[in-house]
Amino acid sequence: MNFMNIFVAVAVSASVVVGAQDVFASDNGVAFLKEKEGHLACAKKVYSLPGVRFMHKIRPVDAMAEVSVSGLPEGLVWNASRRLVEGVVDIPGEYYYKVNVENGDSTVQETVSLTVSPDLQQPTPFMGWLSWNVVEGDISDEVVRTVADAMVSTGLKDAGYDYLVIDDLWQAKAREEGTGFPSPDSIKFPDGMKAVADYVHSKGLKFGIYSDAGSKTCAGCFGSYGFEEVDAKAYAGWDVDLLKYDYCFVDGADDALSAYTRYKAMGDALKSSGRDILLYMCEWGAREPWKWGAETGATTWRCTYDTRDGWNGTPGGIGIVQSVEGMKDIWPYSGVNRFNDADMMCVGIHGKGKSSNDLVEGAPGMTQTEYRTQFAMWCMWSSPLTLSFDLRKPIAEDDLAIMTNPELIAINQDPMGQQAEFIGEDANGVQLYFKDLANGDVAVAVLNMGDKTQEYIIDFSRIDALDADIPYKVRDLQARTDAGVHEGIMNVDVASHETKVYRLSR
Ligand code: GLA
Repeated sequence: MNFMNIFVAVAVSASVVVGAQDVFASDNGVAFLKEKEGHLACAKKVYSLPGVRFMHKIRPVDAMAEVSVSGLPEGLVWNASRRLVEGVVDIPGEYYYKVNVENGDSTVQETVSLTVSPDLQQPTPFMGWLSWNVVEGDISDEVVRTVADAMVSTGLKDAGYDYLVIDDLWQAKAREEGTGFPSPDSIKFPDGMKAVADYVHSKGLKFGIYSDAGSKTCAGCFGSYGFEEVDAKAYAGWDVDLLKYDYCFVDGADDALSAYTRYKAMGDALKSSGRDILLYMCEWGAREPWKWGAETGATTWRCTYDTRDGWNGTPGGIGIVQSVEGMKDIWPYSGVNRFNDADMMCVGIHGKGKSSNDLVEGAPGMTQTEYRTQFAMWCMWSSPLTLSFDLRKPIAEDDLAIMTNPELIAINQDPMGQQAEFIGEDANGVQLYFKDLANGDVAVAVLNMGDKTQEYIIDFSRIDALDADIPYKVRDLQARTDAGVHEGIMNVDVASHETKVYRLSR
């Protein structure tokens, strides 16, 4: 299809550099990113729920610089050895603290803003189902109702998946003349969008919709550029809960500053729409949205191009290999109410999708071990958990078990919202990650990117959240079994493309 080619062309050119301000260079955009970053390679606008343990890891742009923090609100302390702020703030409010970045003779200060509120839009990553990968243009009132029913009957809703999001191609051929109202396609949605949203809500689910910050969506329907207020009002009138907002057809507005301006226009329009609508940015990570997305009103942003149903993507395609590449190093920018999104998971698709089928090595589809790795890493990264398999058909028990593993979901939904820190990869392609959890436990993941089984030693002294001199009770979260008590090290076998995830408690 034509529109796919357009998108693929964009994806291919932009995939040359991950975090591609070079690709989308303009003086304005580069200066904007530099200003947003300042001297810190971590989030500067952070959030916490009152009374819930908070953590903010501070990392400088200049790796040699020393950091310290002053002016912390009551309840928070600076942990100098781990370079993080931690604690609990009980009283809601807007707080500010200073980070001092010292290198040799020079010291600069950066200000961090901390919002403590019981009303955060996305305290934990949202969970749900998106229509694009398997449904594409077949989206309709009937499909939405079928999927909503299935989300309930399969137990996915009970497992936490409560957003049903329709993607592109729901729109009429054109906006309503005169008013500009964004009508849905009247054949696909004969009773309008409000009827569909009402049905989704009647099942105890939330309803999401899709648009684009350009003149057209990626599939060529009308976009929202210049119509932000009209559209936000229409969505609010339909009782929409989430807007996925894409970045195709932006007519040269490719740099980060332009993207910021366009996303902020929609963020502001949603804020004054009269309804609480979550803004989910989708500019594919090309302009480092983790540095500025929170300031547009968004609470999550896509960090890669479209995931494909395969281990390794061909140029422009995002298999697990490319998802890992795009996600592993941006952990300092994630946190409560500001999540790095790794896109829809392909678990359960088995090569039978539509848009997820191309741009992979070999045939589309992955092994169950690879799907388990995808699920585990999305949980470790605190990515929104979005399913995209065909819910119009029966689902295999084994697939359902992967998606509903409550112990991995608990890691994803941990109230401290930390993205797993990447420690490194060894010569055999085995990667090590850890994630601080709100109750003081630590999740450790060992991901084997290589093509042979490896014996691997988890060395606790490499994980600064652990004390190498005390014993930990270990739980295997993939197998859902206890894995004994370990001190200092732990030996594990990790098959090719497998991810082992352990939860360690003192
Ligand atoms: C882009 C997005 C996808 C999907 C399609 C719809 O490719 O990245 O997730 O929304 O557009 O056209």
